[in-house]
Amino acid sequence: MVYSVEEIRKDFPILQRHIEGKRNTFLDTAASAQKPQCVMDKMIKAMTEQYANVHRGAYYLSEYMTFAYEQSRKTVQRFINAASSNEVVFTRNATESINLVASTWGRKNLKVGDEVLISEAEHHANLVTWQVLRDELGFTLKIFKVADDGSFLWNEFFGQLSKKTKLVAVTAMSNVLGTIFPIKKIAEAAHKNKSLVLVDACQFAVHGNIDVQDMDCDFLAFSGHKTYGPTGIGVLYGKSEILNEMPPYQLGGEMVDNVTYEKTTFDEPPARFEAGTPAFIEAIGLGAALEYMMTLGQKNIIEHEQELVKYTTQALNTVKGLKQIGTATEKGGVFSFVVDGIHPQDLAFILSKEGVAIRTGHHCAEPLVHRFGYESVARASIGLYTNHEDIDILVSSIEKAKKFF
Ligand code: ALA
Repeated sequence: MVYSVEEIRKDFPILQRHIEGKRNTFLDTAASAQKPQCVMDKMIKAMTEQYANVHRGAYYLSEYMTFAYEQSRKTVQRFINAASSNEVVFTRNATESINLVASTWGRKNLKVGDEVLISEAEHHANLVTWQVLRDELGFTLKIFKVADDGSFLWNEFFGQLSKKTKLVAVTAMSNVLGTIFPIKKIAEAAHKNKSLVLVDACQFAVHGNIDVQDMDCDFLAFSGHKTYGPTGIGVLYGKSEILNEMPPYQLGGEMVDNVTYEKTTFDEPPARFEAGTPAFIEAIGLGAALEYMMTLGQKNIIEHEQELVKYTTQALNTVKGLKQIGTATEKGGVFSFVVDGIHPQDLAFILSKEGVAIRTGHHCAEPLVHRFGYESVARASIGLYTNHEDIDILVSSIEKAKKFF
């Protein structure tokens, strides 16, 4: 054991409560993670003792809150190892981060004849966004395949990468298959080809260790609520030289330099992309969550989870009639599966009666689930607080559910 998961679990009050009279076996961290007490404490303190709007008044509370908000930006900078905190833009979530890049960088730089390359394992946020922009601007959207076990395939990637590729936009870890993509090598290949790289790190931020300088990605997006922080806050990382050349996303207060009735000049990044009052309480909560993860140590989290990935894979393999979807060697703690003769929705309902929370459906990756031949799959996903008992209960509850059919 790299850390005492039982001690860690005490930091998450919700894990102590009972669901339907049963132990709370929470296995839906990929959708949204539970929050440690320190995150909630930090946010409550900010609202009860320190509250005022940021970047405005020249009075104590506003200055304090501005400092706290900018400290959170610095915490994000450390978490992803960005060269500067000016490369960290606060958004609502990863979806908004990707939309921001599409609306600003995309509209400015993409035209007929250009190509954007994504994988078939993308979340809708990194697929629909480019489809709609393609329909508006006329570039080509290309999609490279993954293997039947969910693995990343270099021949498929290189088969679709071309001199016309302006952007490679890929997930670092699939929310359905769990596959971890070799982002550093993808970025190396893309840059040799003069393509920029956007990374959807929504899942990877939870289960991996982000170093944007080492990965050498141009953009990276993740959501606060998945990294044990609150909802309503997300991050877009962008290299300074690229952000500096991008037009604003939304228009209004806070993002301007000089305004007259005739014209407006815009602020430097990141302020240029943060119109209106930002979600600063949530940003402070996110800062606390990332500090929590960094104190625990991503290396330790990865070790703990990778041991559980092996344990869970083996445990699910013991269930007759259960088929796992996504069994790549490089994989994080997301387990999609189907069980012969049981609709995933029925399975989730029965599991819920046992206190077990899993997600079912297409997981905002509908074409991917179809590509594997399903309309809907069940998905269990782990976090830094998941223990062996969670997995044992999952497996025994599936066995129990099978008896109903
Ligand atoms: N993208 C989230 C998931 O995979 C909501 O469940």
